[in-house]
Amino acid sequence: MTKVAGVTAFYIYFFASLLSSDAFAKITGTVSSPNEPAMEGVLVTARLNGSTITYTVATQKDGTFSFPDRLLVNGTYSLSIRATRYKLDGDVKVDLSDVSKPVSLKLRSDQNLAPQLTNAEWLTSMPGSMNDKKQLYGCTNCHTLQRIVESKYSASEYMDVLARMAQYSNNSFPLHPQIRVAETSAGARFGAGTDKFADFLASINLSAVDNWKYELKTLPRIKGVGTRFLITEYDLSKATTMAHDVVVTKHGKVYFSDFGDNQIGELDPITGQVVEHRYPVLRPDYPKGGLDLEQDESGNLWLAMMYQGGILRFDPKTHEVKTYPVPKELMNEATQQALLAPHHQEVDGKVWVTNVGLNKIHRVDVKTGSYETIDPFKNMPKGERHSAYGMNSDIHNNLWFNDYSAEAIVKIDAKTLEVSVFKTGTARSRPRRGHMDANDRLAFAEFYGDRAGILDTRTGKMTEYAVPTQHSAPYDAVVDRHGFLWTAGMEADRVVRINTETAEVIEFPLPRQTNIRRLFVDDTTKPSTIWIGNNEGASIIKLQPIE
Ligand code: HEC
Repeated sequence: MTKVAGVTAFYIYFFASLLSSDAFAKITGTVSSPNEPAMEGVLVTARLNGSTITYTVATQKDGTFSFPDRLLVNGTYSLSIRATRYKLDGDVKVDLSDVSKPVSLKLRSDQNLAPQLTNAEWLTSMPGSMNDKKQLYGCTNCHTLQRIVESKYSASEYMDVLARMAQYSNNSFPLHPQIRVAETSAGARFGAGTDKFADFLASINLSAVDNWKYELKTLPRIKGVGTRFLITEYDLSKATTMAHDVVVTKHGKVYFSDFGDNQIGELDPITGQVVEHRYPVLRPDYPKGGLDLEQDESGNLWLAMMYQGGILRFDPKTHEVKTYPVPKELMNEATQQALLAPHHQEVDGKVWVTNVGLNKIHRVDVKTGSYETIDPFKNMPKGERHSAYGMNSDIHNNLWFNDYSAEAIVKIDAKTLEVSVFKTGTARSRPRRGHMDANDRLAFAEFYGDRAGILDTRTGKMTEYAVPTQHSAPYDAVVDRHGFLWTAGMEADRVVRINTETAEVIEFPLPRQTNIRRLFVDDTTKPSTIWIGNNEGASIIKLQPIE
């Protein structure tokens, strides 16, 4: 019996593969421009007519590109490119059944740079102090800098614009603005010296000039290893979906938090279809959406519910949702649960979570739902600013969080609640998020430091690495089991891979503007596969490096 079944299975496999090799086709080609007969590092994106999925590869040193075998089914594709200072003449349509020879893409010079510059390139180009420029990192979590540099507001008009910006909750963007309930002044939101900041904003925009008086600088295209990848981008059907944190479960399912709506999305990576798992509204008058999505050891997902005031557990097998609302006596108008650490909740039945409204930390008892409050900053010198951002727990469920207002990783001992501080070597680094590996090595991204680091939480040894592109504003970092530290930031549309042994750094470029937040590194593949939500672009991106 088994033999027959085996033979049958073989024939099914054999004929299926014959059939499918007919169904697949190849797009290969070259990219050139009048100045460069063979252009390296040009991103070429193919979209099958009507599909929500795009595939992107980059050209090699000899100007050639090719999509992997058995990836593209037969049909008509549109090809588009990303290569700053260049454009294709319209979309190129390729009917695969017609193609007998490689496609030759001829690029033309495109000096209309404003829509092409990344935020990092604007920041590098504009005049101003480092401090002024870094204040703009607080604007790009809702929209690109293009909107700001193209505006015509004078400094005094900008004071009103800043007041308007300050009323939007941080889980907003122009397609889906949400209003804060707690009043926030522009000064509190964008820094004390807001009038000086408004002067700066009026000095970099088009309020007094028709065209920018500073030179628009662009980064050279990526070369070498950084061009060898496949990117798959899944467009989400609603333009307002803010895919913030992507998580691939142990069973290979892809979930994401929606920063602007009460749902956990489930993406089918074959078809690109999304199932929405809606969760209850806890605070109807407050902005919707969640941020941090993490897995515990048994494979449950946990979500920090932002202004909805609480956390929830989602069981991927049954789709059951259990919410843990913040108790009334701990709530205020600014209550916000952004980050949480459920990773090792099995150890003592506790999940750590931030409370921005109190600038304290809670520990939630999973059985009873009770909230315990801890102030990790109470013994820190008066007048210093501290706040908890990215959270992780080690195998003893001790908490390790990033002090985002300062320059430290802070530990809270689960048993004694004793607080220990590990300062980064970089001053005012503002460590934002990061992840702990199975050996309790904590990777962290330095938002203001243009660096990422690893803290060995068992020995206290810390190592920091610079990212190549200035103003990347690293948001997240992960160390994988192949010895690579991954990081990426909100401004540069580049994913960075650092070899922790050789310190070799590779940057992988993304096909379009992507406000990169959380990196999910799937190291069950080698090289690791990276998943990213395009928070302002309603898509999910999968990056598969080839070497
Ligand atoms: C919390 C989200 C958020 C932040 C942060 C934010 N913005 Fe905005 N911004 C928006 C939204 C939403 C719009 C579109 C609606 C509007 O114009 O009010 C917008 C529009 C704008 C516009 C176009 C307005 C117009 O009238 O044409 C400018 C200029 C601008 N923002 C500047 C800034 C600057 C400068 C910062 C940083 C100091 C900033 N924004 C930070 C949400 C934000």
